[in-house]
Amino acid sequence: MATQAKKSSFSGGLGFVLAAAGSAVGVGNIWRFPTLAAKHGGGLFLIVYLILVLTFGFSLLMTDIAIGRKTGQSSLDAFKTINKKWSFLGKLTFAVPSIIITYYVVIGGWILKYMVSSVTEFTATANSDYFINFITSKTPPVVWMLVFLAITAFIVYCGVEKGIERFSKIIMPALFILILGISAFSLTIKSEPNADGEIRTGLQGFLVYVKPDFTGLTFKGFMSVLLDAMSQLFFSLSVAMGIMITYGSYVKKDVDLNKSVAQIEIFDTIVAFLAGLMVVPAVYVFMGTEGMKAGPGLIFQSLPQVFNAMGFAGRIIGPAFFVMVAFAALTSSVSIMEAIVGACMETFKSSRKKISIIITIIAAAAAVVVCLGYNVLSFGVTLPTGATGQNLLDVLDYVSNSLLMPVISLLTCIVIGWVVKPKWVIDEVESSGAKFGRKKLYTVMIKYIAPALMALLFLQSIGAFNFLG
Ligand code: PHE
Repeated sequence: MATQAKKSSFSGGLGFVLAAAGSAVGVGNIWRFPTLAAKHGGGLFLIVYLILVLTFGFSLLMTDIAIGRKTGQSSLDAFKTINKKWSFLGKLTFAVPSIIITYYVVIGGWILKYMVSSVTEFTATANSDYFINFITSKTPPVVWMLVFLAITAFIVYCGVEKGIERFSKIIMPALFILILGISAFSLTIKSEPNADGEIRTGLQGFLVYVKPDFTGLTFKGFMSVLLDAMSQLFFSLSVAMGIMITYGSYVKKDVDLNKSVAQIEIFDTIVAFLAGLMVVPAVYVFMGTEGMKAGPGLIFQSLPQVFNAMGFAGRIIGPAFFVMVAFAALTSSVSIMEAIVGACMETFKSSRKKISIIITIIAAAAAVVVCLGYNVLSFGVTLPTGATGQNLLDVLDYVSNSLLMPVISLLTCIVIGWVVKPKWVIDEVESSGAKFGRKKLYTVMIKYIAPALMALLFLQSIGAFNFLG
């Protein structure tokens, strides 16, 4: 029988916080947050989001991390340890990173491609067909995906402390400095005068971003802000996918979880805010608010046009931007792969090296299929949310983020809130000797509010509110 290797761990609180923040900060912060803020009247969305982070987001994140540290296991086994009857929840949770990895590395490949092309073919990338031509081509997206996957796999292969932690400790501060620099630059830009002699400035764009716009706000409108903020938060904090459970299982017992969770939340929120500060004014100045496309269109189509319009500065800002996005995406994909590898190492009692290699091969095969979803396997379906012309990547994203994640989160709240009771988590947090500051809030959130919000989110995902228009 193979002897069970000593459980790996992060060297301390900082390593854990940076690795977890690395998971949390990803393309969601950079392309989804600014788009939603622009769509929902800037400041209003920011306020709603902030309140949710401090209450709802905090409770979900704390729950996942505490489950991991208390059981010392990743999702697949952790729920079984909590309660035998709930072991199915572990399997369901494990399904999420297994689905996400197959398309996240494809997007990672697109980012690497743009990182290089923004230097070598700067002007060509500004044509919005460039993106469509690239993703629908047969070989290049597969090659870039494989490069991205190989880097991810290498970091996971090197282990928790020597791979994930060491990498996050370098990348996360670098990412922060880059985003700070680019967003500061974004505020200083201005457009050429248009036909009416009008000039748009970065500062005006800043106001579009932060000033709450209540004009025409109805109850229905507010609900849509709330639901969007909630689903964004949930995706952004990487909860309900076993990632934070796995990372939590690598945290030493003397680490103050209360403090770590607060730091992760703050890091993730600041990066999302700065991403908005960088994207919204830049797009506003050069393209007006129409340039604020949702999703990949924003970073692969609108922003290259913006960089092009900046002239010489764009040749520096553009590549710097894609380097930053690549960092954000890499630390996230590392966490997705680690959630799978960690769980398989426990289940098959096998070595990290062996499992990493096997998972990489399977992920590569699946990701090739996702790439083909844009050419030979393209089908273009309509989802229950009403989105039309969706391909394999969008369908997988819908299943994992819109269907599975709210259900998993709802069930997790039930297990913790009602089966083992919130004290189970509170005791774990306080076991390091620290005080659990938001204890009362946590209890109310996990028993009542979070499950209700999750149910609402799930109903929205299956199109139950479509009749509202
Ligand atoms: N939380 C990351 C983001 O905001 C995305 C992510 C998704 C990370 C899935 C891990 C797993 O972009």
